[in-house]
Amino acid sequence: MCGIVGYVGEQAATPLLLDGLAKLEYRGYDSAGIALAGNTLCVHKAAGRLSVLENELRGLSLPQRVGIGHTRWATHGAPTDQNAHPHVSGDGAFAVVHNGIIENYTALRERLHDVSFVSQTDTEVIAHLLQHHFDGNLLSTVRRTVADLEGAFALGIVSSHAPDCLFAVRKASPLVIGICRHGVLIASDVTALLPYTRQYIPLADGDIARITRNDVTIFDKKGKMVGRPMQEVTWDVESAQKGGYDHFMLKEIYEQPEAVWATLSPRLNKGRVVLDDVIFTDAQLAALRRIHIVACGSSYHVGLVGKTVLEQLTRLPVEVDLASEFRYRDPLVDSSSLVIVISQSGETADTLAALREAKARGARVLSVVNVVGSSIAAESDDVLYTWAGPEIAVATTKAYSTQLAMMYLIAIHLGERLGRLGEEEVSALTAELKTLPDRIRTALRTAARLRELAKRYQDREHAYFIGRGLDYAVAMEGSLKLKEISYLHSEAYAAGELKHGTISLVETGTLVVAAACVEAVAGKTLSNVQEVKARGAEVLLLVPEGAATDGADHVVTLPRVHPLFIPSVEVIPLQLWGYFLALARGCDIDNPRNLAKSVTVE
Ligand code: F6R
Repeated sequence: MCGIVGYVGEQAATPLLLDGLAKLEYRGYDSAGIALAGNTLCVHKAAGRLSVLENELRGLSLPQRVGIGHTRWATHGAPTDQNAHPHVSGDGAFAVVHNGIIENYTALRERLHDVSFVSQTDTEVIAHLLQHHFDGNLLSTVRRTVADLEGAFALGIVSSHAPDCLFAVRKASPLVIGICRHGVLIASDVTALLPYTRQYIPLADGDIARITRNDVTIFDKKGKMVGRPMQEVTWDVESAQKGGYDHFMLKEIYEQPEAVWATLSPRLNKGRVVLDDVIFTDAQLAALRRIHIVACGSSYHVGLVGKTVLEQLTRLPVEVDLASEFRYRDPLVDSSSLVIVISQSGETADTLAALREAKARGARVLSVVNVVGSSIAAESDDVLYTWAGPEIAVATTKAYSTQLAMMYLIAIHLGERLGRLGEEEVSALTAELKTLPDRIRTALRTAARLRELAKRYQDREHAYFIGRGLDYAVAMEGSLKLKEISYLHSEAYAAGELKHGTISLVETGTLVVAAACVEAVAGKTLSNVQEVKARGAEVLLLVPEGAATDGADHVVTLPRVHPLFIPSVEVIPLQLWGYFLALARGCDIDNPRNLAKSVTVE
């Protein structure tokens, strides 16, 4: 995730900016840069680690006392020197660093048709807009520029027109101001402030702050000068990096409403789904006979959900394969196939090999990837990025949820293009999608209850997850989450399959988690609950509000959503269940044994 720092004060800005950026490294980044204010702006930026930038700056005389810095995690455009922040206006008078996404950047680029852009980023447009709106007064220039921007963003701005001054802007993306002995700092994350101060002012949504060495003036979204209360950080650096959560995994679980919204919102337009620049011509769609989904681990589980949703909405046959199987099984894939490859890291060796296999057989490959510029993204015919931000915990949570969101978008888009969904159905489905972040927020409220229950079950050695249809697909993810971080043995079964063998393992005290949110099959799953209860199992049941709960020992109630989108809500208590059991068992949650975040070997 990108990081912003800024400084105005008595000391040379560069060491403070680099130090602040180093504190933000944990968020993940692929390039870094700084801009120092003076009569001429001085900008240095480089792809790669912060040390590359530090080497570039070594030996330079940089006395400037005002500056901004940034670590970029690529979204729009690959991780290159040109795409790194800060971005500078054509006349060189404005430099900007940016976190978030400018949703209307394409329209703004078109508006600035006489400007030559040097990067592929959405951010560069801001620098040119600042030049365009400059009227001799920097505050009104910033205000008019911000009024043009849609999306979520935090900005740091410096200008040679006022080299003693720094501007900070916040809209739905965090930005704080810290006041220290020798000056004022801004940062997208309090972690960067901690070596200098524990006192900080969080900007409110829509605020613009004009900051000089001796003065911080904040204007709210209506342009009225306002005071914002000072707060104090009570955490150490490590907990601050985790945003006050005990583990990155828990932080990432709680980031899911925003991550899902960041993935959905740029693709929802007036009741329709727009898939970036992925274009299917009528002829290509007419030739499309089947869809294959290929992935590993949790991404494969997303594929299982994708199969149901795509088949429902497109009526095309969909096959889902583990990438490690697909590549060796001589699959029936040709130019009439669309292969959807799903990968958070974009580097998984088996998935990459499966992609190459599909391409060699003539299929069009569309990848769903979280890391811009990764190998899978680079080799695919089309890429759709999930905007989860970097995931630090090894066990995926927010990437999984954004992948689900992307599968819904693809299915609705193809369903409409293939003529299987009418305008009204598309509009109803997209309206339902918009409710997902709030429903996920509601599902997160199950945490306190699950935390208590987990203490009670922490000593169990086995767990079974059961469900039917989409409930089963989510049960598989719940089971994987539990086993990978708590080391508790766990299996997921299609609920109706249990009695064909595995039920022999159920005995007094066996823990069974039953997912029964899909109304059409919930009654059947409840019968399977009775079967395991009769053999002594203890059952934790997931159901939607108002549903039957017969036979369960513990019930977790979830908000109702459209039947096809149930996985997005149902997975939340399962992630929390894995997390709290692992916590109770004293496991190393963010770095479970034997696992790597990116599996680049076969
Ligand atoms: C489990 C998990 C893994 C990954 C799998 C594929 O929590 O994270 O199962 O889903 O290794 O990784 P990507 O999606 O990077 O291809």
